Amino acid sequence: MMLKVPETSQILAQDSAAKTPVSLIDQFGREVDYIRLSITDRCDFRCVYCMGEDMQFLPRDEVLSLEECARLVKVFVTLGVSKVRITGGEPLVRKNALWLFEEVGKLEGLNELVLTTNGSQLEKQAQDLRNAGVKRINISVDSLNADRFKKITRTGELDKVLRGIQAAKLAGFENIKLNTVLMRGMNDDEAIPLVDFAIEQQLDISFIEEMPLGEVDHTRESTFVSNVDTLEILQSRYPLVASAETTGGPARYWQVANTSTKIGFISPHSHNFCESCNRVRITCKGELFLCLGQEDKVDLMPLLRNYPDDDQPLIDAIVDSMAIKPKGHDFDLRRAEPAVIRFMSHTGG
Ligand code: 5AD
Ligand code: SF4
Repeated sequence: MMLKVPETSQILAQDSAAKTPVSLIDQFGREVDYIRLSITDRCDFRCVYCMGEDMQFLPRDEVLSLEECARLVKVFVTLGVSKVRITGGEPLVRKNALWLFEEVGKLEGLNELVLTTNGSQLEKQAQDLRNAGVKRINISVDSLNADRFKKITRTGELDKVLRGIQAAKLAGFENIKLNTVLMRGMNDDEAIPLVDFAIEQQLDISFIEEMPLGEVDHTRESTFVSNVDTLEILQSRYPLVASAETTGGPARYWQVANTSTKIGFISPHSHNFCESCNRVRITCKGELFLCLGQEDKVDLMPLLRNYPDDDQPLIDAIVDSMAIKPKGHDFDLRRAEPAVIRFMSHTGG
């Protein structure tokens, strides 16, 4: 793929038109301009690294309404947030989720509306999401073998997800990225087939190290695959060129030479990215978590519900939360209890 370099004047025009000054700056000087919002803890899959087999979901009234989600995002955007990722659970199983995408897609000052999904609903929804303004989309795919896919997701159908990927390609997103969690003894021999698939389909792919979020039915240590090893395997197969690109998160990217495919490695167990962390997460219960790996949080739901017509208490709480954003996280796979009790499906990936 040719890299298109915009004219300088174009960059300036875009910046001055769209950028609201960032008011969310933490005690270490990090600017927060990116939120990840989980709009449901529910999911039609039960991936083994994410949930136990009999997961209990939250009662409806403990989850933010879509109107509350829209209001929250709007407030963050007025505070200078320019990128929003909608996640879950599986965000697209939430009834009327499209309405939220349409509302958020209209917000001035927002540069990037992006989505993380398991792909099961994309066949039906991809085009509407694109039309609502979703720019980029991440789709979880852990195996290209239907039986294994079923084993890992417990309830997922690989074919449906593959059709979802095709629908997303046709819908014209600026970028589609596969997310893969490799697990020892499950799918750790699929790094190369998955990258081959990504190259053939002109997609990007990221390998995410398994994180100890929530209690699941195996010990994390028994299945952990290090991205150091995955990178080594892939480097022996493909010419990989290190990319300078960073999104302020734990991902490092490599371009597969002579293809349009980038490979990302999301290695939350390494610490070196915390200093450039630009994001906070909001659970479907309206808890604002300042770090994926720490418990520091602020409950926004009472402020949304007690002050339906006044955003100021909400704004104050969000601005004040910057004082407790931790310097970094602390994951240890050997610990008996999960580092963080909450599941990824509550917090959003
Ligand atoms: N560790 C690593 N990745 C996880 N995901 C969900 N739970 C975990 C976990 N415990 C992944 C999903 C999705 C991405 C957002 O996070 O597979 O691709
Ligand atoms: Fe659902 Fe994603 Fe969790 Fe899998 S990883 S169970 S798709 S929320």
